[in-house]
This record gives sequence, C-alpha cells and structure tokens, in this order.
Amino acid sequence: MKIGGAHYRTIWPEGDGVRVINQTRLPFAFETVLLKSSADAAIAIRTMIVRGAPLIGATAAWGVALAMRADASDGCLTAAIDELGATRPTAVNLRWALDRMERVLRPLPASARNEVAAQESARICDQDVECCRAIGAHGLELLGDIAARKGRVNVLTHCNAGWLATVDFGTAISPIYQAHDAGLDVHVWVDETRPRNQGASLTAYELGAHGVPHTVIADNAGGHLMQHGQVDIVITGADRVTATGDAANKIGTYLKALAASDNNVPFYVALPSSTIDWKLSEGVRDIPIEERDAREVTHMTGQLEDGAIAEVRIVAPGSTAANPAFDVTPARLITGLITERGICEASRDGLRKLFPEQSA
Ligand code: MRU
Repeated sequence: MKIGGAHYRTIWPEGDGVRVINQTRLPFAFETVLLKSSADAAIAIRTMIVRGAPLIGATAAWGVALAMRADASDGCLTAAIDELGATRPTAVNLRWALDRMERVLRPLPASARNEVAAQESARICDQDVECCRAIGAHGLELLGDIAARKGRVNVLTHCNAGWLATVDFGTAISPIYQAHDAGLDVHVWVDETRPRNQGASLTAYELGAHGVPHTVIADNAGGHLMQHGQVDIVITGADRVTATGDAANKIGTYLKALAASDNNVPFYVALPSSTIDWKLSEGVRDIPIEERDAREVTHMTGQLEDGAIAEVRIVAPGSTAANPAFDVTPARLITGLITERGICEASRDGLRKLFPEQSA
C-alpha cells in the first residue's frame, strides 16, 4: 500500500536484517525499525511493533532466517523457534510459519540453511500478499451485491485487519480497498478497539491514507448503528479459526457478532488459510486467549495539543484491571468465511469443500 506516495509492504529484507514499520508509533509517526536477530524479531512481536496474525507469522519466519544467518546449527534453529513461538499465544499463523520453516530447514545441512531460510521467508511473505489479494477479490463480490441493491455500502470492522496486519492489502479490509478502487461508494465504521485502539490508530490511519471514507466509533456504538439500519455488513479478521469455523479475533468481536445476529446483519470473517488451526474443533474451549498487561486497560496513550505523545491513567488508582486480548465467535454466528479460495460456510463441511486436502 502507499504511504506518502511510496509503496510499502509491512516487512522487507534490508542488508543484514529485516525492516518493519513500527506500529506502536502510528498514527502519529511513521517510523521503521531494522530487526537484526531472531531476538529482535521476538521482541518486535511481543511488544507489538508488529502485530496482526499474518504479519506475526511473516515476522517469525524472518526471525528464523536471521537466526540462520548468525548460526545455522540444529541447536540455534531449535532455540530460535522456541523463542519466537513463545511470543504471543493466540494467532496460529505464528506456529504455522515456524512449523513451515522447520519442515524446510531441519533436513538440510547447516551450510545450506541460511540461503534457503531467506528464500522461504520471502515466499511466505509473497504468498500472504497473494492470499490477501484473493480475499479482497472474493469479498468484493459481497460488497458489489450490496452496492447494486443499496448504492452506498456501510461496512463495520473491528480491530485492524488491514494491510498493517498482513504483509500487504489486509484481510477484512482488502475487499474494502478493492471496492473503493472499483468506484463503489463504500464507507467504513471503524471500532476504536479498546484497549490498544488498533481501530482508531491503525485502521483509521490506513483507510485515510488510501482515501476510503470512514468514521471511528466507540466500541459500544455498533449495536445501536445496526438497530438503525446503518450497517450493511460486518467484516472482521481472525487470529485463529478452528476446523469447524469458530473464529478467535480481537476482544469484542463476539459482541459484534451477537449484535449482528440480532439485527440480521451479515457477519463475515476474512482469513488466509494460514489462520486455520485444523487440529481444533471447539474454539471457545480450545483456543488459547492471550492475557495482556493490565496497564493497557488502566492507561491510554495519545497526542497532546503540543504534539507530544503521552500516556495517561484513566482508571481510579487502586482498581485492578483484566485484559483478555481475544474472544471467540462461534461458527453459528458467522455468515461466512472469506478465504483466498473463496467464501464458505463457517463449518467443517464448508472449510473442507474449499480445502479438500485437509480432509483426513
Ligand atoms: O493484538 P493484535 O493487534 O495482533 O490483534 C489483531 C487482530 O485481532 C486482527 O483482527 C487479526 O490478527 C486479523 S489480522 C488480518
């Protein structure tokens, strides 16, 4: 996508390292960080310099490649995979990317691993871009149908599942970009997405940069807008989808799905197949939910009138806070899954039809 007229992906190799956009500084500053080791990559994932399920996977893959650049021994491969694998628990793209890197690298002699690791990481990135492009094309059909019936299309999205969460284009936002570029009148309701505000700070930023009309709303506003016919479709991303179609995504997604169901608003989840955990079948029971620092709830970061960035406390001193970062939307509340192979029912049968090679 373009920032200030220049085309960017969210991650790219540079010299001896890998450069990423520092998402903790957006929307107030566009800065990049050079990752030079697998430890740097692990820190970037853990501190959310990079975030979003597909980008976490891509960064982990490059983290393994950086480890192989320094020391391509078996021990170093194991240590890098362990360190990167322990960074964040919910997005399965992390495990998917690490497993893929290990499958390719482990059988090779150490002397061949450095070059192959870089090639494989680049391939993972390129494939993510193609998946997101295809998700956009499939999702565009849904938006086109609504536009043909109603003219303007009002989409509601939660968190950031745009290009910043992937290598390029995004998942949930990719159809929106394609619709906008095709001349459809599309407007996006952007949930602010407390506590880290990925909607307000990242989704709004990237929609604005692309010129897509959008309005940031408090997380609690979605149900009201749906009751008043102001939401035509909800599209969110996902961090892990079970083989039965249950979808984990940023905390609050489930409440949007409940409101959508009560108001007959179609609720779609967009994901590349690297987000499917074929081993799980009961999302609420089995998907690990990351518990993050309570400080993300008790404090907020923003820009002061003089331009300085500041963090302020918003919770009464002495109160405790809990911070589960994801929730699971059961398949029964999901109208459909938008994948790189097409749109399917959120069910084992639906997913198997699109991915027959996964039918054991
Ligand atoms: O905690 P984050 O910012 O990594 O959470 C991101 C999300 O929940 C996204 O919606 C999800 O990863 C889909 S990204 C295409």
